Amino acid sequence: MQIQTNVSLLPFNTFRINVNAKYFVEVKSIVELQEVLASDICKENKIFVLGGGSNLLLTKDFDGLVIRLGIKGITVCEQDGEVFVEGGAAEVWNDFVSYCVEKEFAGLENLTLIPGTVGAAPVQNIGAYGVEIKDTFHSLLAVEIKTGMLKSFSLAECNFEYRDSVFKSALKNQYIIVSVVFKLQKNAELKLTYGAIQDELKNRGIVNPTIKDVSEVVASIRVAKLPDPSTIGNSGSFFKNPVISKDAFQQLILAFPEMVNFALPNGNYKLAAGWLIEQCGWKGKQIGNAGTWKNQALVLVNCGGASGQEIFDFSSLIIQSVKEKFGVILEREVNIL
Ligand code: EPU
Repeated sequence: MQIQTNVSLLPFNTFRINVNAKYFVEVKSIVELQEVLASDICKENKIFVLGGGSNLLLTKDFDGLVIRLGIKGITVCEQDGEVFVEGGAAEVWNDFVSYCVEKEFAGLENLTLIPGTVGAAPVQNIGAYGVEIKDTFHSLLAVEIKTGMLKSFSLAECNFEYRDSVFKSALKNQYIIVSVVFKLQKNAELKLTYGAIQDELKNRGIVNPTIKDVSEVVASIRVAKLPDPSTIGNSGSFFKNPVISKDAFQQLILAFPEMVNFALPNGNYKLAAGWLIEQCGWKGKQIGNAGTWKNQALVLVNCGGASGQEIFDFSSLIIQSVKEKFGVILEREVNIL
């Protein structure tokens, strides 16, 4: 383990932005991480912890220490029909999901092909196709940045919400997640409520799907709609789906009867940001090297050689026009650095 200086972050972010970190280190174990946290360079500089770099927009050089997590490994513990699967923070999320699907452990199959790592998944409670990780999350281990001490977090302590957790709010920048345990089932019911999953199963003539069928169906839906970060730089959904009050919703739906919406249990309404952006004419549009994806307006793409600032400015134009047309404020989902 060696702290390097002036390192390009181009290989480490899926938006493919080329900025430099003043200091950079990769840690392969909890002990190495604790050593780095105790070092003078760490104590004297701001730090940024990098997972898969798939939910990140780098807008300028980072004048501090980037710690890249390399802590890997998967372990399984079975107990009374339940399976506890622990993944090291640096395991690629989709590899972890594939491992569970192959072993026929149910619970993560709807989250197939989400970019990122196991350690990053709880930070924003990743979700897709009617499932969020909070549904199968058991616990996680994290190292406190200030002290280097290990702490275990239960489900309740993580305060999971839609694309949110305690690690994005009260404990932001205080802990580094090193491993996560999921409680999966051997004979669970599959979650097939999401329309796109049902349609695709029907297309394939599948009546009683297996865990693997669901995973394959989700993969095909995602591949058809979302750009592959290995060929075109992107960070998945760039904005969150906005939530508005019932009053605001009732006014808007009068003016836009076609507006895609989901009623929430608390009386509020969630709107589809992709729909709002498309209605403002942004779908597939490009300005300079920044654009929105042709099949999903919620995903911003680096059309080639864009700077992070260029993509950020492009996202501001989208926020502005959605605000003007619908009076709805879009919030960025990706981390901006
Ligand atoms: N829509 C449009 N135009 C668009 C995009 C979407 O009209 O350009 C409409 C769709 O027709 C649909 C609705 O918006 O009626 C919702 O679209 P979709 O099912 O694609 O899901 P989403 O709300 O846009 C969310 C997550 C995705 C996740 C999908 C599937 C957020 C911010 N995004 O997208 O997560 O894969 O649901 O569950 O919640 C991510 O976070 O990076 C991500 C890709």
